[in-house]
Amino acid sequence: MTDLFSLKSKAVVIFGGAGYIGRTLTKAILQQGGRVIVADQNGEIFRQGEYAGLEGEGNFGFVPCNVAKAGEIRAAYEACVGRYGFVNVMINLVAYGKFADLAGQGDEDMAFSLDGVAGQVFRTIREAIPYFKDRGGAIVTTASMYGIVSPDYRIYGTSGQNNPPVYGMGKAAVIQLTRYAAAHLAPMGIRVNSVSPGPVPDPGKNPPRDFMEQLAGKTMLGRVGKPEDMAGAFIYLISDASAFTTGECICVDGGWTKW
Ligand SMILES: NC(=O)c1ccc[n+]([C@@H]2O[C@H](COP(=O)([O-])OP(=O)(O)OC[C@H]3O[C@@H](n4cnc5c(N)ncnc54)[C@H](O)[C@@H]3O)[C@@H](O)[C@H]2O)c1
Repeated sequence: MTDLFSLKSKAVVIFGGAGYIGRTLTKAILQQGGRVIVADQNGEIFRQGEYAGLEGEGNFGFVPCNVAKAGEIRAAYEACVGRYGFVNVMINLVAYGKFADLAGQGDEDMAFSLDGVAGQVFRTIREAIPYFKDRGGAIVTTASMYGIVSPDYRIYGTSGQNNPPVYGMGKAAVIQLTRYAAAHLAPMGIRVNSVSPGPVPDPGKNPPRDFMEQLAGKTMLGRVGKPEDMAGAFIYLISDASAFTTGECICVDGGWTKW
């Protein structure tokens, strides 16, 4: 049998690939033989430290991209086609907003944030269609445990880290958009799935220690996740190993959503 998880035939655009989960995933895709274009607002990470070497690799490219703008999304797909001759995988890891709590979230910032969590995912899928429709491919969106269950406000206390309502609202929309797109793009040979991470706090953002313990306690496995824990589900969903999987949302959350 051929290597089910090989990505040698894949040319991947990763929106948000410079982030905490994205840069580890980028390395994992390259290790599996895939070709990658990271499209992100911030490419600083690829000019420093352990990720700096990637720019020199023939299978890696970075394009600055703001997913709020359809033209910049198209430019990322064009960059992939220009560099590798085609694009047949899209991963979207972006999420942003001007978030506040339920009582304090104003209308303008709510609309902006909903676009930053869900609307921009819609945009990256819509703009992918002309590039994917003739050869098929795989699309993977990123949801969250908070698109499935509510944050338990009791674990957040006074940490200031409670998860905002518009974030979960948008992530629930991403899960449904994924199912809709799976149904409607299947005739073009395009599979669409999502990964729903649990807590994967970035140590670079210095999350408070007692809050980290609270998060760990909400998972069945008793710990928070690492970017390495996420990579396998994404690799599965973009590889031929998942050829019969579409419309699915794979929870990689240590069991958070299952009790
Ligand atoms: N880390 C977690 O605990 C966790 C939990 C559940 C879900 N998720 C989801 O996983 C995904 C990745 O999370 P992460 O922790 O790596 O986040 P991150 O903030 O480290 O990475 C997000 C990336 O998106 C980029 N970005 C932001 N706005 C952009 C824009 N307008 N255009 C283009 N790029 C933009 C950022 O520059 C960054 O590189 C997100 O969708 C997040 O909601 C994360």
